[in-house]
Amino acid sequence: MPKIMEMDSSQVAEAAAQGALCIAVIGCGWMGLPTALLFAETGAKVIGVVKSEEEASLLNQGIATVAEPGIEPLLRKHVESGRFKVTLDAANAASQADAILIIVPTHVGRGKKPDYSAIVDASRNVGRGLMKGSLVIVESTVGPGVTEEVVKFELEEVSGLKAGVDFGLAYSPIRASAGRVFRDLTSYPRILAGFDERSFHAASSLLSLIVKGGIIKVKDIKTAEAVKLFENIYRDVNIALVNQLALFCEAAGIDVVEAINAANTQPFCHLHRPGMGVGGHCLPSNPYFLLEKARKLKVNLDLVRAARRINDSMPFHTIKLITAALRSCGKTLKGSHVAILGVSFKEEVKEHRYSPSIYVAERLMRRGVKISIYDPFFTPEELSVPGVRIAPTLESCVEGVDCILLAVAHEKFKSLDLNLLAKLVKMPAALVDGRQVIDPIKAREAGFVYAGIGRGLVVA
Ligand SMILES: NC(=O)c1ccc[n+]([C@@H]2O[C@H](COP(=O)([O-])OP(=O)(O)OC[C@H]3O[C@@H](n4cnc5c(N)ncnc54)[C@H](O)[C@@H]3O)[C@@H](O)[C@H]2O)c1
Repeated sequence: MPKIMEMDSSQVAEAAAQGALCIAVIGCGWMGLPTALLFAETGAKVIGVVKSEEEASLLNQGIATVAEPGIEPLLRKHVESGRFKVTLDAANAASQADAILIIVPTHVGRGKKPDYSAIVDASRNVGRGLMKGSLVIVESTVGPGVTEEVVKFELEEVSGLKAGVDFGLAYSPIRASAGRVFRDLTSYPRILAGFDERSFHAASSLLSLIVKGGIIKVKDIKTAEAVKLFENIYRDVNIALVNQLALFCEAAGIDVVEAINAANTQPFCHLHRPGMGVGGHCLPSNPYFLLEKARKLKVNLDLVRAARRINDSMPFHTIKLITAALRSCGKTLKGSHVAILGVSFKEEVKEHRYSPSIYVAERLMRRGVKISIYDPFFTPEELSVPGVRIAPTLESCVEGVDCILLAVAHEKFKSLDLNLLAKLVKMPAALVDGRQVIDPIKAREAGFVYAGIGRGLVVA
């Protein structure tokens, strides 16, 4: 069989279908595991690489380590068929693979500086096993320049091979969101850039096996790296804008939801929804990847920085609303008991990394508040937040509390029986809506003091 760099797209598809193509996926988390399984579905042999023995052991037993809908049966299927195996040894996986996908985490560390240590580690390990004629595709989210300045450098240094001559190199960001990863990975158009033309074609042939939404070629790798950051910065800035407008609405006595819904009937207006904080893996970190590059280029991206600052301030604003609502009940923050409904970083998802709920809970506890949390996506055994009681049911969470904070717009919370909740809490009690889910009039009719982001303390 020719090397992947020499194949055309039909040969790549045929090799996969015959089980003759081997793909190493370095990093099998929220994005890497679904990607690996989609490739296993094409018939390819897939070697997953992870960082911990426990993770490898679970995956090799067919037990999913991420709660992405639809993942368990696919994982079991491909573990049983032998098409998907997981190891800690990236060098060995790379030495067997025609193509290597790097999908390891990228974070911000101290001082909000990008932390590319997993990318460096993965690249070095892949470099140890990299073979002539193989293709490396970086899919982690990174700042412009990282694939060529960091990944390429490490691969070449460790392997002694040359990108574009001995091996192919490409960058293609993952545009999927937790909770709908399979759909997004297959249906969204995929941004792709190659280090050279051959790399682009090989990567395009490979990704086309799973991507049905088409491949969008961009001129070079740094452009592809920037595209992913632009998408998330657009959302972060949009949310920061509506968060500021929400604060204005609170002061002006305007209902932010009514105003945004009406404004969005203008075809060029696409305002998002304000909220008590922006969580998740991407939005709180990705802007800093671009800001770091801009700093080196001496370009001022004030707006991007301001958006981060505004969004990071929303949990504190939420605490102000809780304080004001409790005061209206004749109670103080210190010594009160607050029930937080929802811990996921966004609605309908079982993922609580970088959750604004936990951030708010921790800050409230520092101020002498007792916290209970309930989230329908988690059992108490699956959650552990030091000092917080994780309630098994909604009713047990709100029983005897002074304030309910609605933190996540899960479907279950959109049809709350406010009259029942009013019987369970310690009246007078506050209902603080961090996601504009609850009708302020209905909350007041049920006997609550209501406050909401973009609505403020509704007293009349
Ligand atoms: N989670 C999202 O919603 C999302 C969406 C789009 C893009 N992304 C990007 O995708 C990339 C991966 O994110 P994720 O959410 O899948 O991460 P994750 O934390 O869920 O999973 C990380 C995986 O990488 C492995 N890993 C960590 N360090 C490693 C190393 N040095 N060598 C080999 N394996 C290593 C871990 O064992 C784990 O399997 C990141 O760059 C992220 O920004 C994430």
